[in-house]
Amino acid sequence: HKEMKPFKKDFLWGSATSAYQVEGAWNEDGKGPSVQDVKEIVPDTSDFKVATDHYHHMQEDIALLAEMGFKTYRFSISWSRVIPDGDGEVNPKGIQFYSDLIDECLKYGIEPLVTVYHFDLPQGLAEKGGWENRATIDAFVRYCDVLFDNFGDRIKLWLTINEQNMMILHGAAVGTGESSIKSLYQQNHHMLVAQALVMNLCHKKLPHVKIGPAPNISAVYPKTNNPADVEAADLYTAIRNWLYLDIAVYGVYNHQVWAYLEENDALPDMEPDDLAILKSAECDFIAFNYYNSSTVEALPSGTERKAGKKDQQLSDSQEGFFAGSDNEYLPYTEFGWQIDPTGFRTTINQIYSRYRKPLIITENGLGGFDKLEDGKIHDTYRIDYLRNHIKQMNLAVTDGADVFGYCTWSAIDLISTHQGFRKRYGFVYVNREDFDLKDLKRYRKDSFYWYKGVIASNGKNL
Ligand code: BG6
Repeated sequence: HKEMKPFKKDFLWGSATSAYQVEGAWNEDGKGPSVQDVKEIVPDTSDFKVATDHYHHMQEDIALLAEMGFKTYRFSISWSRVIPDGDGEVNPKGIQFYSDLIDECLKYGIEPLVTVYHFDLPQGLAEKGGWENRATIDAFVRYCDVLFDNFGDRIKLWLTINEQNMMILHGAAVGTGESSIKSLYQQNHHMLVAQALVMNLCHKKLPHVKIGPAPNISAVYPKTNNPADVEAADLYTAIRNWLYLDIAVYGVYNHQVWAYLEENDALPDMEPDDLAILKSAECDFIAFNYYNSSTVEALPSGTERKAGKKDQQLSDSQEGFFAGSDNEYLPYTEFGWQIDPTGFRTTINQIYSRYRKPLIITENGLGGFDKLEDGKIHDTYRIDYLRNHIKQMNLAVTDGADVFGYCTWSAIDLISTHQGFRKRYGFVYVNREDFDLKDLKRYRKDSFYWYKGVIASNGKNL
C-alpha cells in the first residue's frame, strides 16, 4: 500500500458550470443572444433557453454548494449578458447579476474561479465573422477590461478561454461550427493573440490576481507500439495539448504543429507584432479539463478512416496523419465516453514535468442518466468515477506534481453541450427533462453527501 501525500492545506475543492449551460434567462434583463442561443439544436435535445434556470435560483444554488463545503466555484460569465452585441454598450443588469453571484460566493467563503469565455461568443460578433475577424480580438480585450474593472477587486483567479482546443477540434459540438482547417487555425490564432493581450492586461491592472488558460488536456496513447502509431500519437499530442500550453507558458507556437499547419496549407495570417505579443505573455498557472485519455493510430494517405466511431470525444482524424481510435482496455459510460482514471495521473504528470506551473483541474466528471426515486438519486456510478479520479490525482500529488485545486463537472445538473439535459453531471439534481420543464426543483444526489465528506476530510475520505 503506497503512502499518499496529503493535498495542500488550502486545496481548492469545488465544481464547475458554464453560463449558457446553466443560467437560462437567455433574453432577459438586456442579455443579447450568443451563438449557443441561435445554433441548430441536436435533434431530440433541449435548447439552452431555460437550462437549469440558475439565473432565477442563484442564491438557492450557491447555498447548496456552500452546504457541500465548496472552497471554490468555477462559473463562466456570459459575454453577451455583459455586452449584449459583443462590442457595444455595457449592460448594467448583466454586471449586477455577476456582482451578486460573486458576493454570494464570498459570503460563504467560496473562492470564485471565473472563466471569461466558455463557448458562447455573442451572436453579434459571430455575424461580423466571429474569430476569423481580427476585430474580435479587440472586442475580447475590451470585454475583459470591463470585467477586470468591475470584478477585479473580488476575483483572484481568472480563466481565459474554456477548451479552445476543443473549439478547434470539435467546433460543431460546441457551437463554433464547421470550417476548413485553414479557417480554424486562423480563428485559433486570433484567440491566442487575444488571450495573450488579456493576460498582459490582467497582470498590468491587477498585479495581485492570477490568470491562466483552461484547455482540455489528455494523455494520448498510440494504438500499438508500431512506430508509425507512436509518431501519430506524438503529433496528435502536440496538436491537441501542447500547442495551447506552449503558447500560454512559453509564448511560442509548438514546432511540430507549425510544420503540420504548413504541410496542410493552414498557417494563419499574422500581423507583424503577433509573435511578439504571444512571447510577451505568460500564464500564472495551468487549468485544464480532463474526462479521459485519447488513443490514436497512424492514418496513411488514401486509407479509409475506421476508428473512433463509438466515442465522440476521440473521433478526430486527419488523413495522412492520425485517426482517433477506441481503447480496448477501457470501459465506456452510457454516453460512449471512455473512462480512464490512470490516464488522469499520467496527464497531470506530463503537464507538470513539461511546464512546472501550479495546476488546477477545472472539469472532471461523468455524464449519466440519473433516476429520481422518492426524492433520492443513487448515483453510485458518479461517485465511483470521481473517487477513482481523485485517487489518481492524489498519486500524482504524491509523485510531486503541484496541484492546488480540483473542480468536478458539474456543480448542479445542466445541459450537456450536445447530448441534452438527460445527460446529467451534477451533485444536485434539477427536476426537468429535455422537453418538460416540470418544477425545476433541486434535489441532493448521493454524490452530494459523498463529496461533502471528501471536502471535509481534504480528500482523505473517498
Ligand atoms: C467540456 C466542456 O468539454 O465538457 C463543458 O467544457 C461540457 O461545457 C463538458 O459540458 C461535458 O461535455 P458534454 O458534451 O457531455 O456536455
